[in-house]
Amino acid sequence: MIDSFDGLSTRLIIEGGRRLEGTLHAPGAKNAALPIMAAAILAEGETVLHRVPRITDVDVMTAILESLGARVREQPGGTMVIDTSSVNSYAPPYALVSRLNASFDVTGALIARFGRAEVPQPGGCVIGPRAVDLHLRGFEALGVEIDLEHGAIIANAPSLNGATIALAKRSVGATKNIMLAATKARGTTVIENAALEPEVVDLADFLCAMGARIRGQGTPTITIDGVRKLHGCEHTVIPDRVVAGTYLIAGAITGGDVTLQGLDPAMLEALADKLRATGAAVDAQGVSVRVQGIPAWKPVDVVTAPYPGFATDLQAPFVAYLSLAKGTSLVEETIFDARFVYVSELARMGADIKVSGRNAAVTGVERLKDAVVEAPDIRAGGALVLAALAAEGTSQIGGLEFIDRGYEFIEAKLTALGASAMRVSGVAPVLPAADITVTETLPRIVTPYAP
Ligand code: UD1
Repeated sequence: MIDSFDGLSTRLIIEGGRRLEGTLHAPGAKNAALPIMAAAILAEGETVLHRVPRITDVDVMTAILESLGARVREQPGGTMVIDTSSVNSYAPPYALVSRLNASFDVTGALIARFGRAEVPQPGGCVIGPRAVDLHLRGFEALGVEIDLEHGAIIANAPSLNGATIALAKRSVGATKNIMLAATKARGTTVIENAALEPEVVDLADFLCAMGARIRGQGTPTITIDGVRKLHGCEHTVIPDRVVAGTYLIAGAITGGDVTLQGLDPAMLEALADKLRATGAAVDAQGVSVRVQGIPAWKPVDVVTAPYPGFATDLQAPFVAYLSLAKGTSLVEETIFDARFVYVSELARMGADIKVSGRNAAVTGVERLKDAVVEAPDIRAGGALVLAALAAEGTSQIGGLEFIDRGYEFIEAKLTALGASAMRVSGVAPVLPAADITVTETLPRIVTPYAP
């Protein structure tokens, strides 16, 4: 029976214990699609994007572009047409910008197009206000004057001039934003210690298709020769390695057999290596990766790192898997300060995880048990889904608004792989399972980590 239920939020109901089996196509990458949509501002014309994921972060970025005057049409099959010829504003509203940190990517594009941008600072979260100092120092090196007024970053560039910018940290966001601003700077810009992430490469490739002159993407030194004008183009977004990785872990954690198709296995090599180290079989061939789980798996230590290291975005999903390993794994998070916030939710399902700062000791338990849990952020949501798939009983996962930011049609995809997963919205009587027991009212986590 349901003793308590807030009656408002939408939840994912997962009956655990089913072996997942089958093949999925990797959707488009959120972290490539969002900056590419922002980059479309530079086109002053029509851009056609394919493999755009159906996630709510894309909806928010769409709304941001529309607020600036762009016209956006979505077509079936993940195609999106963005016409930015009528963009006439350089000041997106806070109500939209605050909903995703990637919205800050519009800053570089607006600077390049208008020489001006007024973008609210990215919102605070459990890790504190998101750092954008490297973005701003990079803009300044290009000749942009930066002021802070009423919580918004006011960027003013009477002229943009190429410069050599050595990033103190290999920041994905700063690399993207500086690259965007530099596309139309006079002369040559060199970004040293640039991020190597495939999503940075995809953005650079997209900008080149628009007429930008960029080389070295995917290496630590990116060189951008400024051009006067960029034009619309057609582009297919790369597959999402984090989503793909989450479904592969779903195969492993259920002792199943899951294949992800349509992606370059190199993007998932760090995850594949760790899965293999636990004893799971991982077969990467052509454009697909297959994982075959085993009944009992070994622990393995993990240190997150910039690409091609183990992705911080897969840390929580992998910890869910390690929480059922035969032994203790040590996990070190090196990218973000507070990326273990979800651990208390996994503990509700019986996981044994001790966190000290950026380190966690994950001691495998015999089994996870069903619980009512709340996703505090996108990838932690993925972790809770994985735990629920492997747990005994029927779990309820709240915080779907976070999961939907990064995972499209999650219940449909899980169901296609043989899981029992359904989305339940609204009021308590709609809940299908008579055997769901909610033992206490959950405190709601209101300050999510949201890169
Ligand atoms: C992006 C991804 C996110 C991923 C992360 C690391 C998007 C929308 N999000 O986030 O999913 O987890 O890369 O792969 O693409 N930093 C500074 N100053 C700055 C910028 C960053 O100190 O100006 C710090 C951050 O606080 C963090 C580290 O650098 O500790 C890495 O951040 P960054 O690579 O910029 O991540 P995001 O672009 O925010």
